[in-house]
Amino acid sequence: MATRTVRIIGDELLRKQSREVEEITPRISELIDDMIETMYAEDGVGLAAPQVGVLRRIIVIDIHPKQKDPMVIINPEVVLQEGEQITSEGCLSVPEISGKCKRPEHVIVKAKDRDFKDITIDAEGLLAKCIMHEIDHLNGVLFVDIMIENDDDDSVEKD
Ligand code: NI
Repeated sequence: MATRTVRIIGDELLRKQSREVEEITPRISELIDDMIETMYAEDGVGLAAPQVGVLRRIIVIDIHPKQKDPMVIINPEVVLQEGEQITSEGCLSVPEISGKCKRPEHVIVKAKDRDFKDITIDAEGLLAKCIMHEIDHLNGVLFVDIMIENDDDDSVEKD
């Protein structure tokens, strides 16, 4: 495993659409390991593959990083979103800025796990925010694009 360099806003790759994963190759497996290591090394609660320069629909999330139980989400598809929450967001690819966004309070997402088995994730609150933030990365969207207010909160989780 190795850490990879996180791309920063201004890098065109962050604005591109990521492609679906068709199978778990050794290369994809290594990418997932490196993404997890990079997320922890950067003190993030999530990371999407385009943030380390790979245009693939892969997300890793751990909203309780001390427990080191990362979630791997491949080819996510939002099948339900409901409610509304105003989140506080930061991003490893957008240093120095944090702000509030409007996100669904509850989402259900179908995806594959790292063994390429079907999974369904039912998420609320922080996890729902995190999943939607990462899915945006897969579509070239950064939180600053949808930010409703800048809040200069340094303590906010980054992903
Ligand atoms: Ni981010």
